[in-house]
Amino acid sequence: MDFDNTAKIKFYSGETIPLELHKPRIVQKIHLAPIERRLKALEEGGFNTFRLNTQDVFLDMLTDSGTNAMSDMQLSAMMHADDAYAGSLSFTRMQKAVEEVLKKKYLLPVHQGRAAENIISKVYIKKKGDLIPMNYHFTTSLAHITQYGGRIVELLYDEAYKITSSHPFKGNMNIEKLEEVIKETGVENIPYIRMEASTNLIGGQPFSIANLRAVRKIADNYGLKIVLDASLLGENAYLVIQREPEFANSTMGEVIEAMTGLSDIVYFSARKLSSSRGGGICTNNSDIYHEIEAMIPLFEGFLTYGGMSVREIEAIAVGLYETLDEQIICQSPQFISYLVNNLVSLDIPVVTPAGVLGAHIDAMKFCEHIPQLQYPAGALAAALYMISGIRGMERGTLSNQRDEDGNEPVADMELVRLAVPRRVFTLSQIKYVIDRLTWLHENRKLIGGLKFVYEPPVLRFFMGGLEPVTDWPQQLLAKFKEDFGDSL
Ligand code: F0G
Repeated sequence: MDFDNTAKIKFYSGETIPLELHKPRIVQKIHLAPIERRLKALEEGGFNTFRLNTQDVFLDMLTDSGTNAMSDMQLSAMMHADDAYAGSLSFTRMQKAVEEVLKKKYLLPVHQGRAAENIISKVYIKKKGDLIPMNYHFTTSLAHITQYGGRIVELLYDEAYKITSSHPFKGNMNIEKLEEVIKETGVENIPYIRMEASTNLIGGQPFSIANLRAVRKIADNYGLKIVLDASLLGENAYLVIQREPEFANSTMGEVIEAMTGLSDIVYFSARKLSSSRGGGICTNNSDIYHEIEAMIPLFEGFLTYGGMSVREIEAIAVGLYETLDEQIICQSPQFISYLVNNLVSLDIPVVTPAGVLGAHIDAMKFCEHIPQLQYPAGALAAALYMISGIRGMERGTLSNQRDEDGNEPVADMELVRLAVPRRVFTLSQIKYVIDRLTWLHENRKLIGGLKFVYEPPVLRFFMGGLEPVTDWPQQLLAKFKEDFGDSL
């Protein structure tokens, strides 16, 4: 199967490049500080890219969360927001968008995706040891489930754990294992099944509608609910159109409806789904709505704003409709596939096939000389920032939490995620990423490990402080100077 998403608009030259189908009308200056300053910034920020300030960052590829470009339509909608604590018309518009796009009648607003995870976990995890089967965890989903005494089991097929693959749907749930787990555990100990659209931590890999249908069938057989994390729903739907023959001629709306229609509860981070801020939980089941309802005023805010400003709510409403526009949603996956395919041709280890959200560099291979407990992905993210000003995110052992006994589980994959937020970067910036990664790959032996000097007990990767185990950053800097002279 051909996963080159760039092929839709052909160039006479034969070159396949993704063509921007938008024009920038508001732009923001970014800064490329000298390498000496970048090393200093790393030292000040505990070699943790989360702790860098954007004045020191050139290309911010940390995440797409809250950083996708907003559209002119979203910005103008924000101007006519209806300020009201209760009964705001802005909320009515968001409700309508949820009904028309996600096809769910009831909407419970929350301030962002993890707030939905907190509330769903609190309502449905009734006792210690309750098990949530899922295709794969996301950091915040795991943290909230364990906070309420729950456990998770990840049920992917083996192919999903292979960095290099041509499988179109590495985010598929392993159906055979799901049934085994349900039989072993007992339905009474399973509050729900969680499916994550475009499984974030294994490289933004989608699941197919056929797979979700199979999960639904099992859920129905055992009377279980499906909770869909729809934070990356648009991109998953786009890849379904690209890769699942049954849907090759479907619209985004039809695919989205198929996905949400198979799920009992749909929640989302609007920071990702709709290029704005905020989030929501939605369902067509009034019992579920009432089970959750009381939590919104308790943790988020009144039921017609849920901790969001009315301006954000307006932007979400428009952003949800824009999710139906393949021309908008295709931009990020096309740029990612351009980036990934170029890295593959340069023998730079990267997760394939290209998924959504970003390119995922395989740090285990890139830095095979660094042991996992010295955080190869964290070290690679720091090194890449230092030599380029590009900020990526560690998604490996450093992002894992310690278990109950304080042991540090090593991650299945050590990835550096280079996010490509929707309609933000230009092609020359992507070429710069490829260029600097090529240089770093040739000089990879100079990169060394990291160790914690400050380790927060929960979600340690956000604010944790580390330091290099040797003087490798100075050596890397010297080599950069040798090769690039006075180039930034
Ligand atoms: N689910 C998924 C699949 C996510 O990717 C995220 C956030 C959340 C839930 C939580 O949503 O941030 O609004 O509270 N992902 C961001 C990322 C943080 O960088 O991938 P949130």
